[in-house]
Amino acid sequence: MLKGKTVVVGVSGGIAAYKAVALCSRLTQAGANVRVIMTEGAAKFVTPLTFQSITRHAVYTDTFDEQDASVIAHIDLADRADLIVVAPATANVIAKMAHGLADDMLTTTLLAATCPIVVAPAMNVHMYEHPAVVENMNTLRLRGIRFVEPGTGQLACGYVGKGRLAEPEQIAAYLEQLVMENEPPKLLAGKRVLITAGGTVERIDPVRYITNDSSGKMGFAIAEQARRLGAEVTLVYASVSEKLPEGVELVRVQSALDMMDAVLERFSDTDLVVKAAAVADYRPAEPAAQKIKKQEDELTLRLVKNPDILAALGQRKTKQFLVGFAAETNDLELHAMQKLQRKNCDLIVANDVTDPLAGFGKDTNVLHVFDGNGPAASFPPLSKHEAALRLLLLTAERMGCGRPAGGNE
Ligand code: CTP
Repeated sequence: MLKGKTVVVGVSGGIAAYKAVALCSRLTQAGANVRVIMTEGAAKFVTPLTFQSITRHAVYTDTFDEQDASVIAHIDLADRADLIVVAPATANVIAKMAHGLADDMLTTTLLAATCPIVVAPAMNVHMYEHPAVVENMNTLRLRGIRFVEPGTGQLACGYVGKGRLAEPEQIAAYLEQLVMENEPPKLLAGKRVLITAGGTVERIDPVRYITNDSSGKMGFAIAEQARRLGAEVTLVYASVSEKLPEGVELVRVQSALDMMDAVLERFSDTDLVVKAAAVADYRPAEPAAQKIKKQEDELTLRLVKNPDILAALGQRKTKQFLVGFAAETNDLELHAMQKLQRKNCDLIVANDVTDPLAGFGKDTNVLHVFDGNGPAASFPPLSKHEAALRLLLLTAERMGCGRPAGGNE
């Protein structure tokens, strides 16, 4: 993923600067065009020549040392960067970034950059936990800056705690992932993907119904990401509170029975089904044609079971790859595995709806994916868009979808 990308590595003044050498080596080996900026402090720990030798490019240390008279170095570098990573990032450089200071080559470049920026902090544990540092990091997070968390262990200052620069391979893997998310390969090109989203609406009478809290966010995110991965996407949606995605075929339904019809009609031409909808398990047995009038003190509503759409697909499937969802409050793995088997899915995505970062209406989700053998992947708390992409990348891999040449967006 990093091949041909210009990655600017900002090295600030901490003992962990030596680890940035290994990071630059990895990125160079991965085919990236690595440009290093060192702060004055960094150059006290490692010489610019070390980075120059690894990257085969002159190292930037001074804003005013303009090597090419035709450009302004920090603007030119910021414009050319596909990605900037500051590793190690000291408390000082983090503070400067948070407050928009630009007093050296690294901070001027960071201010001029519009590409994604990743920060890998390294410092003493007490510094890392200091409210000023925590607040500065939060400010940066809110601006979209990403962090590769430091590790916990023996620190150079003698303390044991959190503050050790993440390992170079971990930072490199994070950067790969980021590039992948920004420019996903068209792994699903030529595939027809059917996604269901939202909560079904089961009519009681013309003005009343039974539904659930599903917002459609997760299903919509999956539809958008499937389209980015090159698929031809049909989105069958019921009750939703989100803006509809663009570039996909939209099929609006109301009840579980409508959804069943819409899905079955398209199933034979479909390669992948992702059933993110929250389908009502029961519907009123006799929906009234006219508004039910208030009469007795009690009203009993008789419900009958809806068909299980996913299980029906599981029975009928030939070539189709089936991904189901399992919203659970307890015994996640047990329930997810039972659903996977009962509905004959290839993957089931479970989330704990009691988790404050997961479930209905939230912008984030914490997905745990299971296959026939048990746990297949667990993703950390991610935005629903990122979670959707990770899920589809795993799905595409399981479907055996290859990467076409030049498949980037
Ligand atoms: N599902 C379906 N048709 C139904 C019920 C559920 O297609 N009538 C699908 C959902 O879209 C989801 C998966 O089955 O992909 C699991 O849904 P969930 O509501 O978690 O499970 P249920 O089978 O309804 O079991 P329970 O309510 O007992 O947890």
